[in-house]
Amino acid sequence: MSNTVIVGTQWGDEGKGKVVDLLTAKADMVVRFQGGNNAGHTLVVDGKQFIFHIIPSGILYEGKKCLIGNGLVVDPEVLLEEIKKLKESGITVTPKRLSLSEKAHIIMPYHRAVDHAREAAKGRDKIGTTGRGIGPCYEDKVARTGVRAIDLTEPETLEEKIKTNLKEKNFYLTEFLGAEPLEAKPILDKYLQMADELTPFITDVSLELDQARKSNKKILFEGAQGTHLDVDHGTYPFVTSSNPVSGAACSGAGIGPGQLHHVLGIVKAYTTRVGAGPFVTELTDKTGDYIQERGREFGATTGRRRRCGWLDLVVVGDSVRLNGLNSIAVTKLDVLTGLDEIKICVGYDLGGERINHRPASLKKLAQCVPIYDKMDGWQEDISHVRQMEDLPVKAKAYLERITKITGVPVSVVSVGPGREETIVIKNPF
Ligand code: GDP
Ligand code: IMO
Ligand code: MG
Repeated sequence: MSNTVIVGTQWGDEGKGKVVDLLTAKADMVVRFQGGNNAGHTLVVDGKQFIFHIIPSGILYEGKKCLIGNGLVVDPEVLLEEIKKLKESGITVTPKRLSLSEKAHIIMPYHRAVDHAREAAKGRDKIGTTGRGIGPCYEDKVARTGVRAIDLTEPETLEEKIKTNLKEKNFYLTEFLGAEPLEAKPILDKYLQMADELTPFITDVSLELDQARKSNKKILFEGAQGTHLDVDHGTYPFVTSSNPVSGAACSGAGIGPGQLHHVLGIVKAYTTRVGAGPFVTELTDKTGDYIQERGREFGATTGRRRRCGWLDLVVVGDSVRLNGLNSIAVTKLDVLTGLDEIKICVGYDLGGERINHRPASLKKLAQCVPIYDKMDGWQEDISHVRQMEDLPVKAKAYLERITKITGVPVSVVSVGPGREETIVIKNPF
């Protein structure tokens, strides 16, 4: 038995969806444990692209159970839309195939309204959120005023919560943010209608996982976002409102730490970031454009152009510690093909002193200058490579450098978006 947690080690979009899809072949269940539809996880199977925002990336496999844990914030409209789209592709999502935790929090229209109005009010200082209401929904969860999936099954509770919450939200929206107020009745009607469709999926996910554990089923935990977007450990305040680190798999799915056997960190072969916030190795030159274009670095959720830069092993090194990584999957190695020289950031220079960890202070971080190791690039197309020994020597040297500096072995190398465009060195299952 080897339950595996997959986490992003940078600022999201490392290719988690592709690796989850790949590893689901050997798992029995896939569970998401945090975030919401701020995530965009892309899989390419038989040339067909799927992007999932809420549904776990294992859903394409028949006979494997997918679960949405209590740690998520779920927009019911987006979930139903994903179920509908899958049906159009010939995949019927039934409660046998998908569960939604009764304790997951529900994104309401006032969460989206607050997210938008707040970002607009911040102007140039905005965080660059996905505008999906993620932060405001988590705020209500912690404030103990949130709507949970279980409330969708109790119309009176739902009505009362919507009415009570709207009093406060409308005051905040109109008086502080200068936005329009919302009406309770249309929200209640719409949510009750969606509740009918979602109720069959609502279960106790923790219990389901426990039963699976007792019958030796293999569980894959699918992280969203990335370690440096973590509300505790990321580049605060330019972060999301949940904990994408591996430890959150326990609280966000309802299992104990002893059930996590392997933590696999996804490392994109370079760095990207969507939205605002510090980025020490960012490239604003032709090389940055080359990576952005070859990597097709546009957000899977918002379509925004992703900022690109060299691989930052200070960032990845912090993720090794924060997640307790057992192995690494290096993705998008093919994107670096064609560069004469490749740089890897191996430390930061802060006022003449070398540091190996990202400082918490954004002021200090802004003064950090990357210290680079320079390596030769390779020119050969590597997208057809399926064995380590067939990689060009210089590509292998790049991977070896990552292992040497991070101290973590590489278990998977991804050389293209397709499921088969992968070198599996050691499957964690
Ligand atoms: P996630 O949020 O971590 O699941 O990543 P995204 O799906 O947002 O972004 C990763 C993008 O890179 C998607 O468009 C994938 O199809 C694509 N991708 C994943 N692995 C590879 C790879 O090895 N090479 C290339 N060229 N594209 C990849
Ligand atoms: P996946 O799972 C990349 C970023 C947003 C913004 C910040 C806060 O696909 O890797 P939020 O809407 O969460 O309040 O926005 O976090 N962000 C992501 N960036 N990938 C993601 O998910 C992200 N989810 C949120 O761009 O900077
Ligand atoms: Mg993504």
